[in-house]
Amino acid sequence: MRKTIIAGNWKMYKTIPEAIELSNGLKRELFKLDKDAIEIVLCPAYTALSEVAEVVLESNIQLGAQDMYWQDEGAFTGEVSPKMLNDIGCAFVIIGHSERRLYFNETNETVNKKVKAALSAGIKPIMCVGETLAQRENNETFKVIDDHILNGLKDINATEALNIVIAYEPVWAIGTGKTATPLQAQEVHQYIRNLLVKVFDRDTADAMRIQYGGSVKPDNIIELMNQPDVDGALVGGASLKIDSFSDLVKKANQVRKK
Ligand code: 13P
Repeated sequence: MRKTIIAGNWKMYKTIPEAIELSNGLKRELFKLDKDAIEIVLCPAYTALSEVAEVVLESNIQLGAQDMYWQDEGAFTGEVSPKMLNDIGCAFVIIGHSERRLYFNETNETVNKKVKAALSAGIKPIMCVGETLAQRENNETFKVIDDHILNGLKDINATEALNIVIAYEPVWAIGTGKTATPLQAQEVHQYIRNLLVKVFDRDTADAMRIQYGGSVKPDNIIELMNQPDVDGALVGGASLKIDSFSDLVKKANQVRKK
């Protein structure tokens, strides 16, 4: 059985005091949840990683970053390395978020380099894939997924793949309040899993987690989690408040898959 994984992507929100308050509140609300049943990950901005790391130390909450560079060190002004994320205690890193693809020239090639670098550093990548509205309307969803998955996972073996989480985030559903219907999400998740069978093998594909992202809220998490190939969520807006994120995580924790 795949362990549920719910991650909060705080994007470019929260000052250090706000991040401390949010992570403390979540720790208080969620401490009873069994970390063997559900993984909870917080991904603050770089500036707050260190403080949030301290708050969640020895709790059932893990730390993630929102991006990283693929080299361990060097003259790369403004970048942060896998070694630095390790240093700070990051267990996860989001790679290839659509906002990075759209605004910061992230390509499948750079995504692939970053995924490999994260794996080498022992950090689990959450690799984001997903189509825009125009691509969906042009019936290109599966073509885009092929492109993101096949190129993003290039030259990665099955053992390494077990440490990768895929996040399916349809761009049209991010921050728009438009969630993919549970069936729309399931259709693409199932497609991704079948693709993972081709890239790796059945057992590996069955063990890999695929999160859904895009306007996930406490009131739609259960129906999303009830889909057989939805193993968790990558949450933006609803992860910025103690009440909504803790509610969402508790609800996800109630869904028990076969
Ligand atoms: P929203 O939940 O705000 O739609 O954001 C989704 C997202 O981009 C998470 O990475």
